[in-house]
Amino acid sequence: MTVSSWVRRALAAVGVMTLAAVTATVQARSPQASAAQGASKPAEEEFVPQVGQAGKDVVWVPTPPELVEAMLDMAKVTPQDYVIDLGSGDGRNVIAAARRGARALGVEYNPKMVALSTRNAAAAGLAGRAAFVEGDMYEADISKASVMALFLLPSNMLQLRPKFLDLRPGSRIVSNTFGIEGWTPDETRTIEGNCSAWCTALLWIVPAKVGGKWRLGDGELMLEQEYQMVKGALDAKPLANGRLRGDQIRFVVGTTEYTGRVDGNRIEGNLRGGGPATNWTATRAN
Ligand SMILES: C[S@@+](CC[C@H](N)C(=O)[O-])C[C@H]1O[C@@H](n2cnc3c(N)ncnc32)[C@H](O)[C@@H]1O
Repeated sequence: MTVSSWVRRALAAVGVMTLAAVTATVQARSPQASAAQGASKPAEEEFVPQVGQAGKDVVWVPTPPELVEAMLDMAKVTPQDYVIDLGSGDGRNVIAAARRGARALGVEYNPKMVALSTRNAAAAGLAGRAAFVEGDMYEADISKASVMALFLLPSNMLQLRPKFLDLRPGSRIVSNTFGIEGWTPDETRTIEGNCSAWCTALLWIVPAKVGGKWRLGDGELMLEQEYQMVKGALDAKPLANGRLRGDQIRFVVGTTEYTGRVDGNRIEGNLRGGGPATNWTATRAN
């Protein structure tokens, strides 16, 4: 591990402790303290969020604006996308995605944050494309999302992992700082300049589901999948460098490179092994 990657990991570890510690401290506040706070609560219009304020499963800490843009750049957000942020805070990820022409939805547990983000979207002239609902991140229907733009704790991400893996292959998940246990990001980017905290974005591309037995011509293709990584064998000859990027699969058998597109129970593509490229097709056998 290089010194800089060690420093990045150490900072991420400190970060998770900070965000988790603030969450725990705020959750542990006495009911009396909360009631006293409630007694002096300002009118809805005057609500000003406080960094570190309580949240159901994670406190509110905003993503720095430059990292919001870096996350949306990594996800390559276009007007064709439907972007969802779970725990959308003041709405910045959703509003920035809408500014790029995407439809975007924020799901936020705190009703005051929902009202604030709705006002922020209207003030930006983006109310038509940026919507916010009050809800729990774990209950939300994210099945139609093509991009998830998130700033959540590793524990939140782990609990959401099965839903992420059920998104359409090729959907992108971008996260501020924190990872998804077991699932290596496809890309990591740390922004330079004035960023002092929460400066790293991670990207995952949801892989097609390919594990199992396939028929490839007269041969048998066995694929073992761990997230975007693929191992296995073609007629008992081992696969090398097997990898998925959404619905695109690539692997090498001997000196032949297979590339293809997964479409449900069918894979179609090209193979190259010295001579001219030829087509190949595989169909699911189990
Ligand atoms: C770390 S902040 C991130 C805010 C925003 N996504 C951003 O990147 O600036 C997490 C947000 O999640 C909200 N939250 C906490 N638990 C939640 C839950 N179970 N469902 C929905 N939102 C939740 C908090 O109120 C807070 O606004």
